[in-house]
Amino acid sequence: MVTRPALTVVGTGIRCGTDLAPNVRAAMIEADDVFLLSSDPISECVLRGFRPDAQGLAELYAEDKPRRDTYAAMVERVLDGLRAGRRVCFAIPGHPGVFAQPTHEAVRRARAEGYSAVMLPALSAADHLYADLGVDPGEHGSVTFDATDFLVQGRTADPTAALILWQIGAIGEIRKPRAVNRPGLALLGEVLLDAYPATHEIVVYEAAPFAFCEPVIMRMRPDALASADVPLLSTLYVAPAAVAPPLPERLRKLGLISAPA
Ligand SMILES: C[S@@+](CC[C@H](N)C(=O)[O-])C[C@H]1O[C@@H](n2cnc3c(N)ncnc32)[C@H](O)[C@@H]1O
Repeated sequence: MVTRPALTVVGTGIRCGTDLAPNVRAAMIEADDVFLLSSDPISECVLRGFRPDAQGLAELYAEDKPRRDTYAAMVERVLDGLRAGRRVCFAIPGHPGVFAQPTHEAVRRARAEGYSAVMLPALSAADHLYADLGVDPGEHGSVTFDATDFLVQGRTADPTAALILWQIGAIGEIRKPRAVNRPGLALLGEVLLDAYPATHEIVVYEAAPFAFCEPVIMRMRPDALASADVPLLSTLYVAPAAVAPPLPERLRKLGLISAPA
């Protein structure tokens, strides 16, 4: 017999309703307590349709509170449920393990305290991006960073691979962002110009939250980023600008070309 875990961490996907996998829905229905973070009020309403008693976690955010503290409070709520002997489901938008610190932390802490904990995969913003932009992350390879990390850690873009930057609406923001950071976007545009030609197209992307909406797809040059109408919940896609030349030595070692006679 399969024993049900004490903690199930789930993602409700990006597109309201249609992204919700049957196993995620079942985990939410079967749990004693559901702790829910949703991206918008309509999605929250839909999810509460089958768990009206779900406990919202959005109230833990506060104007001047660092996100780190909000996340720690979320994890404590979830663990308190486990410690009270309840089977808990922790649900967040998208994939629960993608750019999602509190979900990973909840699983780690639950296991450290002796509870069984699992994470179920779900559709993330990247899955929608590949479909809507018609790009395959494996075609030329792709590199993913948080936009702030990309800037602050001095990461170098590889112009032969696709670059996907998350949280461009929250550059340099340690609290819950209320508006995009224009100087941050300007800096990002400048840094991209170190690796890409000035005319190279970059794409600001926001997946459609509802089946009746279209995604936001804004194509522009890097220097236009600072003044663009960047949605708070958007992701930046930069296509490769050059082809990575194969290394003859490696081709030979792999037997893909023959050694010169
Ligand atoms: C805290 S992360 C959560 C990611 C989420 N767990 C997922 O799997 O997509 C928030 C970031 O995800 C991306 N994101 C979330 N919703 C999005 C959407 N509708 N369209 C594009 N990107 C989105 C953005 O980069 C945003 O800043």
